[in-house]
This record gives sequence, C-alpha cells and structure tokens, in this order.
Amino acid sequence: MPEPLVAPSLLAADHGDFLGGVRCVEQAGLGWLHLDIMDGHFVPNISFGPQVVADLRPRTRLHFDVHLMLTHPQRYVEAFVKAGADRITVHVEAEHDVAATLRAIKAAGLPAGLALNPDCDPARALPFLSEVDLVLCMTVFPGFGGQAFIPSVLDSLRQIDAERRRAGHAFRLEVDGGINVETGRQCRRAGADTFVTGTAFFQAPDRRAFAESVIA
Ligand code: DX5
Ligand code: ZN
Repeated sequence: MPEPLVAPSLLAADHGDFLGGVRCVEQAGLGWLHLDIMDGHFVPNISFGPQVVADLRPRTRLHFDVHLMLTHPQRYVEAFVKAGADRITVHVEAEHDVAATLRAIKAAGLPAGLALNPDCDPARALPFLSEVDLVLCMTVFPGFGGQAFIPSVLDSLRQIDAERRRAGHAFRLEVDGGINVETGRQCRRAGADTFVTGTAFFQAPDRRAFAESVIA
C-alpha cells in the first residue's frame, strides 16, 4: 500500500497570498500541494486557473496534485500540464470520455486520478482502476472548504480499497473535504492513504504536528 501522506489544499489558503500558503506547506515539512480548480459550473464556486499554477511552479518544489472540478476537464489537461501540474485528477461525473481524458493525462507523462463525488456509486470507478494512479473519494460535495465530513463515503473507500487489494492495484486512495485528525483516522481505517486537508491544516496552531497526527 502507498505510504500515507497529507496534501494541503491551497483553496483554504489566503487567495491574496498563494505563495504564503505554499510556504506554510513547505514549513510543515510536507511534499504535496493540492490545487482545487473550480469552474463555477461543475461546482458552485470559482477558484483559480492555470496561470496561478504556472506562476507558483518555479517558486516551489512541492508536488502539484491538481484536482479538476470542471464540467469539461478534457479541454484543460494540456493547459495544466504546461502550467506545471505533477498529477491531474478528473471527475467521473464530468461531461467527457473518462477513459480518453485519463489517456491524455498519461500521454502527457503525468499520473492520472479519478474523482468520485460522495453520492457516486463506487462501481462507476471499477472500469478505470487499471488505468489510474489515484482514486479520489470526495468526502464533501465539492465547491467550498470548511464543509462537514460525509461519513457515508467510508463505505465507498472500503469497497475501492477491497478491489485494490483483490486486483493488486497500486493506485493511491485519496480523500478530500472535512479531513481533520478524527475524520482522517476514520478514512485511514477504511483504506485511504492520501489526505487532502484545507481548513484544518491552515487553521492548525502547529501545522507540522497536525499533519503528522492525521497519518499517525
Ligand atoms: C472541494 C475542495 C475542498 C478542499 C478541502 O470543495 O476540494 O474539499 O480541498 O476543504 P477542507 O477545508 O474541508 O479541508
Ligand atoms: Zn480537491
């Protein structure tokens, strides 16, 4: 199973100082930065785009874990590859040929991820599990940080983790939304190994200690 890790979400940082948010992640000794890209259509919010990613790219060595919450993610893969994404995750519910989009991400040389909203039947991910490097089970309905964790997603995690083990897949199993020490522990027990956390991380008095406790 993949080594557990915490990926703070830039969505929860000060949008007037993205670089400051990056430095918080670095100073906490973490390696991944989760970048939530929102189009105001697939989700009821607009966050930031490829230019922000491109401008941050030369200023940090963090691994850019780009999460496309876009209705047409296939239209933006190239832009985020060029901007400096290190991996790209797209939603199974978006309006695209999922297999083709995953292939395009991998053809660009990047690991590809598939995201499921909390109400999505995990069976919808099964046809793609041999193609992905990461499965993201959203633990809130996407759009905003600071929402309450949805416990029913734990069952989806268990189902996907069981299939991962049965088939011998090596993809990461990521959760995103309402993740703190307690909910992170529940997700870890259900099979998650990659923890996106925004609000709880940036509001933690000791961010390094918080991140360590999420994966303890
Ligand atoms: C979708 C976003 C959020 C964010 C983390 O809304 O993907 O889940 O990353 O949000 P919190 O603040 O809940 O950790
Ligand atoms: Zn996300």
